[in-house]
Amino acid sequence: MTPPALRETLGAMLQSHVVTISRFLVDQQRLHPEATGAFTDLLGDIALAAKVISREVNKAGLVDILGSADDENVHGEEQQKLDVFANQVVIRALDHTGNVACMASEESEEIIPIPAKFEAGEYVVIFDPLDGSSNIDVNVSIGTIFSFHRKQSEGERGVLEDCLQPGYRQVAAGYVLYGSSTMLVYTSGAGVHGFTLDPSIGEFLLSHPHMRIPEPPSKVYSINEAYYRRWSPAQQRLVSYLKGEGGFGSRYIGSFVADIHRTLLQGGLFMYPADNVNPKGKLRLLYEAAPMAMVVEQAGGKASDGYRSLLEIVPGSLHERTPLYMGSAEFVELAEGYLAEGD
Ligand code: AHG
Ligand code: MN
Ligand code: MN
Repeated sequence: MTPPALRETLGAMLQSHVVTISRFLVDQQRLHPEATGAFTDLLGDIALAAKVISREVNKAGLVDILGSADDENVHGEEQQKLDVFANQVVIRALDHTGNVACMASEESEEIIPIPAKFEAGEYVVIFDPLDGSSNIDVNVSIGTIFSFHRKQSEGERGVLEDCLQPGYRQVAAGYVLYGSSTMLVYTSGAGVHGFTLDPSIGEFLLSHPHMRIPEPPSKVYSINEAYYRRWSPAQQRLVSYLKGEGGFGSRYIGSFVADIHRTLLQGGLFMYPADNVNPKGKLRLLYEAAPMAMVVEQAGGKASDGYRSLLEIVPGSLHERTPLYMGSAEFVELAEGYLAEGD
């Protein structure tokens, strides 16, 4: 829960004037006398990268940045030019700051070391530079997902093991949603806070302090039903219940950040289950599941692989996948109940 002092500060600030993300971060930092300011800088650098990516995403239809980069990423997925661009923007916003020990990205097979000419720092940044990129050409909302860990290894620069930490060790996590407006939503373990970009002044302004999944939640499930025949019998029974006697509605954008943002604001249950083609599902643990799990749980929800908290899973490799159920706690528990019955 958010310290009473912070809640009071926020309340006061909100009554008087707009709060930029920089102001918010500085005020939050004051609550931690031991803070060095590196975390504040880091989130500010992510906000800068978000503004640059937002500018390109919002004019993607106007310049020759649409369409594929005629290349494939580590998953064999065709890389859209904006994926490659966004990847470079995040790396360049962070690599020279002296706050980062190493990075890892959906778009890079190996970890991304800090160049020798730059000083390294204490934080590990893991990110999906552009999530939902198959939606770029049809102007559907896409996003950036980020996860911060502290370096654990002894050396001055980060190594692979520093990236393979379980989600409960994240010091912060969040996403940027490039939608009808561009929003940055993050948590550092003291609640979830949302900022909306005002492009006319180039500032992220506090628009959603203390985001909490609403109770009672809206009864909406979100899953790609095209894969119904691939699912386990338990998964099939669960979705049949939800759309039958459970009385749920259905919403699926096919862009993880947008689907989760809706789930945060309205409640519901997002699922990307294992199936008989992808036994670990599709979404990646390090830079999709774990950061979003921290955000959802900090907003009062739950995040599971169907059997245990996503935040407990110790990664074995950078790009490993995991089945994923997240949203309103009661709905995630309902899903876990069905899966526990077995097939
Ligand atoms: P990315 O574009 O980073 O590869 O992620 C795409 C993901 C995620 O955004 C979404 O939830 C999922 O792909 C949709 O997959 P399906 O098309 O199989 O439903
Ligand atoms: Mn993704
Ligand atoms: Mn991506």
